[in-house]
Amino acid sequence: MSGALKELLPETDVPFYQSTGNEEQLFEAAWRQHLPLLLKGPTGCGKTRFVSHMAAKLGVPLYTVSCHDDLTAADLTGRYLIKGGETVWVDGPLTRAVRHGGICYLDEVVEARKDVTVVLHPLTDDRRLLPLDRTGELLEAPDNFMLVVSYNPGYQNLLKQLKPSTRQRFLAAEFTFPDARTETEILMRETGIDHQTADLLVRIASSIRNLAGIDLEEAASTRLLIYCATLLKSGVAFDDSVTAAIVEPLSDDADIKTGLHEAIGIIRG
Ligand SMILES: Nc1ncnc2c1ncn2[C@@H]1O[C@H](COP(=O)(O)OP(=O)(O)O)[C@@H](O)[C@H]1O
Ligand SMILES: [Mg+2]
Repeated sequence: MSGALKELLPETDVPFYQSTGNEEQLFEAAWRQHLPLLLKGPTGCGKTRFVSHMAAKLGVPLYTVSCHDDLTAADLTGRYLIKGGETVWVDGPLTRAVRHGGICYLDEVVEARKDVTVVLHPLTDDRRLLPLDRTGELLEAPDNFMLVVSYNPGYQNLLKQLKPSTRQRFLAAEFTFPDARTETEILMRETGIDHQTADLLVRIASSIRNLAGIDLEEAASTRLLIYCATLLKSGVAFDDSVTAAIVEPLSDDADIKTGLHEAIGIIRG
């Protein structure tokens, strides 16, 4: 099974998530009403953190799968493995969530192989079924099962878009980067950095986000700001921190990197 598969058990501590709108209410309603949910938004804006927060808050196990282009339906449902000379069926994370209850979260679902949508469709119907052809089982999802998928619509890759027939089976919520005040609070809370520094990093990100799409494929994410704040907090110099956590991750192009350094210099004053 793929090393990217990660299983998280229910936590007593609810991971910190600063909500930016009515997303918590929406998630809880979707969970109670047995509706699948699609989270759209750029990398590093808090989608994964939100799902772990909600799973912990609702007290259900979370099965997170980072999708990639080799991920097949069998990686999600399970397969027969040889164990001690015997052939045994081993549930994949999706099957575990359906069999025992929980939230199955498929991160970057568009990356997965096409056959993955085939196993998702019957789970998004009213009856919420998971047919396992290999074992001959037809599993019915329990009340606390929920399917959550995320994707980044920013990738300008036409080959990698969700088919309308798939996406129209999900409720959908758009995630954006938090507003400046919220993002400043998140940085302080996550890294222990002071207000002034957090505010400076958020202003830097905001100026870079205005450049995104023109010269940059992706904007400076909340995640990168957290990396930067973490470096600063551990005593790395400002220039080195922004180079390593913001400029280098965003571009390989020398001119663009110079432009980013200039933009940062102007904000820093
Ligand atoms: N609203 C938020 N509340 C708390 N932390 C956040 C929030 N948004 C982003 N973060 C921080 O940013 C990091 C990256 O977010 P993540 O959920 O992994 O992004 P995504 O899944 O959208 O790529 C998180 O680990 C967390 O530290
Ligand atoms: Mg994520």
